[in-house]
Amino acid sequence: MTKRILVVSALGLMLAGLLPAQKKGDAAKGKEVFDQCGVCHSATTDEKKMGPSLKGLFKKAKLANGQPVNDASVTAMVNKGKGTMPAFADVLSADEKADLLAYLKTI
Ligand code: HEC
Repeated sequence: MTKRILVVSALGLMLAGLLPAQKKGDAAKGKEVFDQCGVCHSATTDEKKMGPSLKGLFKKAKLANGQPVNDASVTAMVNKGKGTMPAFADVLSADEKADLLAYLKTI
């Protein structure tokens, strides 16, 4: 009886530990996702490539379109694209976008 309760609560703890981990972005994985952006965006220098440098993106007050820099506005940009920037809505999974955001916050 006691053993059974222990097993059940151990499972509960494991699940509680797993669920948030799935939703939170992983910056290391996001760096790999950024390979698809790196042709047009620098993450390490202020150099403008096809698109503006994204170095320090989340430290900026606003995007070029005037919107505040936050998860929603950057995700919208990634989903829809703009001008020569392609839309990534169907290219990247929700997990990849979460990882990408986590990475963008580190550059
Ligand atoms: C083919 C080139 C290209 C690719 C690939 C690309 N972008 Fe862009 N991106 C652009 C251009 C060009 C702009 C400027 C658009 C404008 O304002 O007219 C831009 C703008 C942005 C902006 C807004 C920057 C600001 O300060 O306003 C963000 C954020 C962004 N891109 C993120 C990404 C991410 C993340 C990826 C990868 C998933 C990506 N881009 C892939 C070309 C690209």
